[in-house]
Amino acid sequence: MQNYNDILAEILIDEETLQARIKELGAEISVDYPENSLLLICILRGGVPFLVDLSRYITSLHMVDFMAVSSYGMGKRESGGTVRVAMDLQMDIHHKDVLLVEDIVDSGHTIASVLEILQLRQPRSLKVCALLDKSERREAVVPIHYRGFDIPNKFVFGYGLDLDEYYRNLPFIGVVDLEKYKPTS
Ligand code: IMP
Ligand code: MG
Repeated sequence: MQNYNDILAEILIDEETLQARIKELGAEISVDYPENSLLLICILRGGVPFLVDLSRYITSLHMVDFMAVSSYGMGKRESGGTVRVAMDLQMDIHHKDVLLVEDIVDSGHTIASVLEILQLRQPRSLKVCALLDKSERREAVVPIHYRGFDIPNKFVFGYGLDLDEYYRNLPFIGVVDLEKYKPTS
């Protein structure tokens, strides 16, 4: 696997800017959910760093749970219309105030189908917090109640976002130089 520097076109959002914005989101969420009934749901695996940092900036009591979904068909860098629950939540979300925490909303298909699945379980409320919004690419209508950054239509990596499963550990969001990237398989 190549060193990230060899495939980095530019740093889109540096660590300091990311953390400052996530801190603001955490403060906003703390005010909006004062009743200690908040459940953050993280979609594995891309949402993990964001969930962890966001959770530390939220000062009201809250719980966290995880789910994994996989999308049917389509290419590696895009998602199709529906998703399958690959790993379900541990908790019952009925009557809970659920906030879905996602790394990025791209076409919107993933979030749209996850929202549909969760809505059937009748939470008290259901909202979306997305770190990145690639709004130009939107195909499905999805409400984003808390948005970190609106980003251009470029393939990004780092801070949870992967390039063929690598580089999720980087503390910033970078743009991939797809010309220089050589997939190993
Ligand atoms: P959507 O269903 O098209 O909104 O796709 C959402 C999922 O695609 C995200 O949760 C990411 O896993 C992945 N994805 C979309 N854009 C990017 C990107 O620029 N870099 C890395 N992963 C991405
Ligand atoms: Mg994801």
